Amino acid sequence: MNYNIALLKGDGIGPEIVESAVKVLYKVGAKYGHTFNFTDYLIGGIAIDTVGDGLPKETVDGCLASDSVMLGAVGGPKWDTLPGDKRPEKALLGIRSAMGLYTNLRPAKLYPALKDASPLRTDIVEKGFDIMMVRELTGGIYFGERGRRQGKNGEEAYDTEAYSVMEIERIAKVAFETAMKRDKRVISVDKANVLESSRLWRETVHKVAKDYPEVECTDMLVDNTAMQIVRNPAQFDVVVTSNIFGDILSDEASQITGSIGMLASASLGDTTRGLYEPIHGSAPDIAGQNKANPIATILSAAMMLRYSFSLMEEADCIEEAVNKVLDKGYRTADLAKSGETALSCTEITEKILSEI
Ligand code: IPM
Ligand code: MG
Repeated sequence: MNYNIALLKGDGIGPEIVESAVKVLYKVGAKYGHTFNFTDYLIGGIAIDTVGDGLPKETVDGCLASDSVMLGAVGGPKWDTLPGDKRPEKALLGIRSAMGLYTNLRPAKLYPALKDASPLRTDIVEKGFDIMMVRELTGGIYFGERGRRQGKNGEEAYDTEAYSVMEIERIAKVAFETAMKRDKRVISVDKANVLESSRLWRETVHKVAKDYPEVECTDMLVDNTAMQIVRNPAQFDVVVTSNIFGDILSDEASQITGSIGMLASASLGDTTRGLYEPIHGSAPDIAGQNKANPIATILSAAMMLRYSFSLMEEADCIEEAVNKVLDKGYRTADLAKSGETALSCTEITEKILSEI
């Protein structure tokens, strides 16, 4: 089969890590007889610098015409002083929204080889964990009304968290469907003790839960969830939550796996066209130095094969290759303990390629 993939390399380490994932896809394609065609499009700071727009129309059109999209990262100090609606991050929200990608899957699991890299105590890590974070991606405070105004204390700023029943229902369904293929447990995270939007979230999730009697559904407040992720991560199977809570909790979940450089993500809507990106950012401090960990992006490529193209065996092949490389003790700088040799981005990519 022939697959057309749009590449949005973006800023910082984006180009390096996407290059690694492309090499891996070529190798997998050659092994299993698929052709992957790649087309680059601009996004983020580089797009602002080149064409004066973080999300040019050609990029949106190119993504919508592709079979799937792979993204590196956007943003950096150079663009940090731009007004909010001109920042590179706005382009990322824009492409998620333009592609209708309301679901963000962020799997955080412990690789046995990385037990030592996790900051958690050994007795907690020993139990292992495999969390599928299902984050709502096109609603909530990220997209609600915002602005500046005069308040009773003078100038103030506001952002609005709003969720419709429709938005909650569709993400809840994804969570329950995902749980049906896993351990059949969903934890729905909210702040229903304070927020009205969370109370509607909770009510709606409970209604959807009735259609999935086999799945155990539990509510958890977001502050408690933040604590439970480091106290007992083994208790989680599927976690479903709002855009902002999912953003925060997925960074926390990534860190306990050993490094934020390990966490892949898939953003999906109602079609098979998705957007795949590592959950980490553009890491401007190490950009262009060949030091970045490309594993999250390579694992995102595996998610693309699985979720967009239904190439299960091929996806497994990438994940097994990553596993083998970690088992053999190869580490990038973010994973290496003091005294251990850190491989560069291209070196670890070569190791992974040689296992495919
Ligand atoms: C993420 C990132 C983005 C988000 C930023 C860069 C807009 O933190 O994908 O988690 O908040 O969604
Ligand atoms: Mg984030």
